[in-house]
Amino acid sequence: PVSHGHSASAGSATGGTPRPVTDLRGPATPPPGGAVRHFDLTARMATVTLSPGRKVSAWTFNGQVPGPSLTAEQGDLIEVRLRNADITSGVTLHWHGYDVPSGEDGVPGLTQDAVPPGGEFVYRFVAEQVGTYWYHTHEVSDIGVRMGLYGTLVVTPKGAAPTGLDLTLPVHTLGGVLVTGDRDQSLVKQAAPGTPVRLRLINTDNTPHRFTLAGTPYRLVAVDGTDLNGPGTLAKVGLRLAAGGRYDLAFTMPPDPVVLKIDDRADSVRLVPEGTSPTTAQDASAATESPSTTAAQGDSPTTTQRDSPTTALSATAGAGAVPAADSQTADWPELDLTRYGTPAPTPYTSRSRFDRDFTLVLDRGLALTNGKPAYAHTVNGLAFPNIPTEVVRDGDLVRLTVVNRGRDTHPWHLHGHRVLVLSRNGHSVTGSPLWLDTFDVRPGEVWEVAFRADNPGLWMNHCHNLSHADLGMMLHLAYQ
Ligand code: C2O
Ligand code: CU
Repeated sequence: PVSHGHSASAGSATGGTPRPVTDLRGPATPPPGGAVRHFDLTARMATVTLSPGRKVSAWTFNGQVPGPSLTAEQGDLIEVRLRNADITSGVTLHWHGYDVPSGEDGVPGLTQDAVPPGGEFVYRFVAEQVGTYWYHTHEVSDIGVRMGLYGTLVVTPKGAAPTGLDLTLPVHTLGGVLVTGDRDQSLVKQAAPGTPVRLRLINTDNTPHRFTLAGTPYRLVAVDGTDLNGPGTLAKVGLRLAAGGRYDLAFTMPPDPVVLKIDDRADSVRLVPEGTSPTTAQDASAATESPSTTAAQGDSPTTTQRDSPTTALSATAGAGAVPAADSQTADWPELDLTRYGTPAPTPYTSRSRFDRDFTLVLDRGLALTNGKPAYAHTVNGLAFPNIPTEVVRDGDLVRLTVVNRGRDTHPWHLHGHRVLVLSRNGHSVTGSPLWLDTFDVRPGEVWEVAFRADNPGLWMNHCHNLSHADLGMMLHLAYQ
């Protein structure tokens, strides 16, 4: 397996940067009024129990999958001491969607060396962006993330302690089983009718997931951590979430149950009104060993579905109790994000004058890898490390056009910057401005996005189907 960025040493991409990327580090102390949020994460192999009788061997942070949930308030200093106990290929922490200083970005071979067994690395950055993010290893990232080296990062506004129910639901396929949430989150949650609810959906897999929410109207209030402008009320739509992406959903708890389905599976995440069936809900969560699973998938679907805790749930809490929410959702139309919400002024548009223009044509085929032609996922016909680096100057306005000529979906991801979507397939965005860090370029699609190069250093630009990235579909962005 190839690690992201293995062939580039920091500062080499432009033939010598004025300051090595390894010096572009976060501050040691928080800004005035901020607190230090310290976390210790130790990567190690462990066996985790997904549901009674179902154990998988995983690569974990602190023995759990997902790793600990990191939370902070805006303006805090996040300080994470990463240790590696026994992951022989090494480990790093990348802050997905978080625009940290380049030296904190966690890309082995580019911004730091991978942390070997027995080693450690301390990450520090200021929690400037509010919203829903996640972290994951970036060394042999396809295997590392799939095996469990990931967790969530949620930053709330200063002084605004979340009210109501705030649930972070990272969705991940672990050992063939779809896993949702943290150790302390069961599949059934109670909420008093009238409670404000926020669901933070995170796709940590390599392929998109489709979510439906039944039982209440709701709003999609944030995408990839950024609030949407004027998001309208939604009902009976499918929400397709790109690999690596995040959706925040908000609603007021109704007097009846609410059901979140993932990929239209029979199993689901359920919110039940407080007081309606407390015993059932308690029984249900007691039966759910952490981390909770919502569905079974993979080699032996019949067997695992029988093991799945939600199947038991449906039998106890479900029967007759939630008819409306259990309606068929498979044929609900997909929400077109580029037309959702209300337009608002943006700092640049497709008519802006761009300092740099890059076009990336994604495909698959033979390409030179390590000097030999091999099957690869390609960018402009080339595979990493042979794809030319995108070189920018600090302050440049950059346009990136990503064209998918192949047959696979490529969730395109840029480190260190959020991009503004200018157009998708020639149609400009007519709804809320869309600021994304991962956008799903489906076969035949063309996405035109823009960003201000305002975070100097060396950055990855890659497909977040990490198996594609490991097969060549990545390149570097470097500041002159
Ligand atoms: Cu979420 Cu380069 O990664
Ligand atoms: Cu891809």
